[in-house]
Amino acid sequence: MTHRVTTAAPTALTLADGSPAAGGWTLSTTALHTNHGSFGAVPRVVQERQNALRAEMDRDPVDWFSALPAKVGAARETIARLIGTSPQHTALVPNASGGASVVYNSVAAATGAEIVVTDHGYGAVTMGAERTARRWGGRVITARIPLDATPAQAHEIIMAACTDTTRLIVLDHITSPTARLLPVREVAASARDRGIVTLVDGAHVPGLYDAPLDGLECDVWIGNLHKFACAPRGAAVLVAQGELRHELFPLIDSWGSPHPFPERFDTQGTLDLTSYLTAPDSFAFIEEQWGWDSARAYMTRLADYAEALIAEAFAERTGEDHRVDVGAPVNAMRLVRLPAGLGESHAAADALRDRAVREHRIEAAFTSFDGVGYYRLSTHAYNTASDFEDFAERMVPTLCEWAADTRR
Ligand SMILES: Cc1ncc(COP(=O)(O)O)c(C=O)c1O
Repeated sequence: MTHRVTTAAPTALTLADGSPAAGGWTLSTTALHTNHGSFGAVPRVVQERQNALRAEMDRDPVDWFSALPAKVGAARETIARLIGTSPQHTALVPNASGGASVVYNSVAAATGAEIVVTDHGYGAVTMGAERTARRWGGRVITARIPLDATPAQAHEIIMAACTDTTRLIVLDHITSPTARLLPVREVAASARDRGIVTLVDGAHVPGLYDAPLDGLECDVWIGNLHKFACAPRGAAVLVAQGELRHELFPLIDSWGSPHPFPERFDTQGTLDLTSYLTAPDSFAFIEEQWGWDSARAYMTRLADYAEALIAEAFAERTGEDHRVDVGAPVNAMRLVRLPAGLGESHAAADALRDRAVREHRIEAAFTSFDGVGYYRLSTHAYNTASDFEDFAERMVPTLCEWAADTRR
């Protein structure tokens, strides 16, 4: 089948020896990988370096663990430089969920205090907000933001949801179900004026945007290094620039407790923290191979191509428009609307993901927002136009059949 997409396919990236970029990773060649955004993928050299550090840990455990906090501190300084933050404001945490839990566990609030979240929030982080509000004897208020809202509209809706008893706003920098940017700078500034704490969930941001905290004065920002920055899993940052940082403690109470923020996060008892130590190697791998700016430009062009191609492949079969206006799109993550009947709830979207991988060996993210299902595509340096052409050839017809089955 030929598609009439006018967006040009970018030339695939290669390694220094001219071989395909995918050789820099160890992803299986029997599956199609179009979902970097959910769990990331770790470059081969970084896996080797992490394995070497684990071997070192197991050769001399006492030596390893006594020197570990200092090594974590050094990695933290490097990582802070790489994402454009100050090491004095940057702590390492295992993942974005853990970073949110640090905030939920640490922020003090009056009885009855409220938390404002958005309906684009990551479900598990929102559940944490709900548990926290229950503990405070308060409630969660959900700001409902239309998918295609402009940044100015989104800002207005979020602030309108706040009341005099709102203690905390939790909002995504890049939303998970809808792959859009939220106006975090504007919300943080307005919240500050009203004395409300802001937690910005930037889980997807490191690697996708350079210096993401420039001009952003939120109380806490969290970001996963194991997504687009390609670090080994279990590596994330928690950035806290204001006074609130003095109240933040790691989830695991350990010997670092008497130290100030962020040093107290450098000691976490007996844990394998090789993911922290090797996170800088992942940044270095992309920089050495292509340079982050070029890699991001490639990922953006590929996302443009993939989005147009797949929306058109659906349209050829359904006669409908499958393109989606998300108000403030992201460079390397896009939405394409699924045919009616598919992914209409979070559980249904996850079931679709599981079925696609089980029956077709296609790794894909499906999301749900406001009762509509979406294919959320991600691009990274190892992806090529042919990955998405393959998706359009094989998965689009299959999804249309599955949608028809739901109507029978
Ligand atoms: C916006 C957002 N927050 C939090 C998370 C959770 O990340 P983790 O599982 O690494 O804690 C995700 C994962 O996709 C996410 O998209």
